[in-house]
Amino acid sequence: MKRIGILTAGGDTPALNATIHGAVVRANQLGIEVYGLIKGFNSLFNPRVPHLHLNPLFQPIPELDPTVGGTILGASRDYINAEDKRSHGEIFERLRKLKIEGLICVGGDGTLNGMQPLAQCLPVVLAPKTIDNDLGLNYRNEPDEWQRRPAAKGGGFVYEQTPSRTVFDLDYMINFVTPGFVTAVYVSSIGVRRIRSTAESHRRIAIVEVMGRHSGYISLGAAYGRPDIILLPEHPLEIEPLVQRVKEIYELQKNVVIVCGEGVVDAEGNELGAEKSSHDPAGNKLLSGAAESLRQILIEQMGDEYFKVLRRGGIAREVIFTRKIGHTQRGGRPIRFDRFYAAGLGGKAVDLLLEGRNNVVATLQWNRKRSFFVDSFDANGFRDRWGLIHARRVHPSFYDRHLMKPSRAGIEYLMQIFTGAIGEDDTESIRESLFAPGNLLEPYHSFNTDIAKRICFLDGGGESGMGEPEPGC
Ligand code: F6P
Repeated sequence: MKRIGILTAGGDTPALNATIHGAVVRANQLGIEVYGLIKGFNSLFNPRVPHLHLNPLFQPIPELDPTVGGTILGASRDYINAEDKRSHGEIFERLRKLKIEGLICVGGDGTLNGMQPLAQCLPVVLAPKTIDNDLGLNYRNEPDEWQRRPAAKGGGFVYEQTPSRTVFDLDYMINFVTPGFVTAVYVSSIGVRRIRSTAESHRRIAIVEVMGRHSGYISLGAAYGRPDIILLPEHPLEIEPLVQRVKEIYELQKNVVIVCGEGVVDAEGNELGAEKSSHDPAGNKLLSGAAESLRQILIEQMGDEYFKVLRRGGIAREVIFTRKIGHTQRGGRPIRFDRFYAAGLGGKAVDLLLEGRNNVVATLQWNRKRSFFVDSFDANGFRDRWGLIHARRVHPSFYDRHLMKPSRAGIEYLMQIFTGAIGEDDTESIRESLFAPGNLLEPYHSFNTDIAKRICFLDGGGESGMGEPEPGC
């Protein structure tokens, strides 16, 4: 193989540049050219196929800094439709014209689903990334547990996982952890810890919402910020025990911090954060998140009287407040664990292409004997019997429903990942860079500005200001 392509699909994470860097470093050692495709699969739908050469003369371009969050290639949530055979032909032809002999897709479960049609045309390998940590399996035969039934409304199917018959063991998890997750937990834990000050000083109840969609790994990991209660999407809300627990804690310490995953569901399985048909004064539909819905539940259940006695006059609405960690958990400098293993997975993806593998995933494995190591797993092994790839969910044994916190097994899982996850350079970089006078003197310089100068097009046209590049540059 002389030339490979790489793209970053789905939502950004802090470790994407680190993965690209790892792939480029390995390709340089092997004398392979790496072309980056702009904005994920989007570039492949564009007849001009915007792309850039990431390693001219087998050196990484200077914009490719593994310590910078996000992706210099740009990302999008465009995916290839498995039914649209015509577009597959066009895409393949474009890649052929670019002389790309193998492709690395950096992405999560959506990307893995989306890259299936491409694997029919050329060798493709997935290098995982997702802050949600949901690309993986709790055990090898997990996809076989999925059942489907026709949906009540609107056609299609509803998929449900049947109860497991597997004896769960950490050693047998497939893809133990995904790059991006560790930095997301780092940011979320700091947020939770900081919110405690206000809750404690003002005797309030804070509900902190974290991302993760239907998987509660970020919520579980936010245990490092020492919240009092953690709610995961995998465990439907039990209102009575929750209210009782909140009261117990409030009566003892006069403040409560609750972490709530954005995908938390009620007893009927409805997402708490789903769109509600309430309207603001201007008549606009109001969208409430999971934390906000939970706040309303607690306000109703606890009532003003409760706080009047305990807090001398405060009302529930004032006492209970919400904050979302939001996109800060998905951006910025990746911490050492993410950087190191993201780069390893990028390098492994190059090796897999060179070994002639197709439709495989570079995985980050862990076991008691070897600790962490990179490996691979066939993409087909992630698919259920209908070919779908489902997001991994937190194994039930990781959560203690009564304590509303990680269980012993959950703690063992987290400890393998997070003990030592922060490097000295991570803390040093804050000291050196945050209050540097240059931050006040110079405007922000986006890597997009420099990358735009390097972008080439299949038809040879350029918006790059570098003249008329040759096809494929
Ligand atoms: O899948 C990653 C993720 O950050 C989820 O945790 C979150 O629900 C979603 O993406 C947010 O997406 P967007 O940035 O498009 O709002």
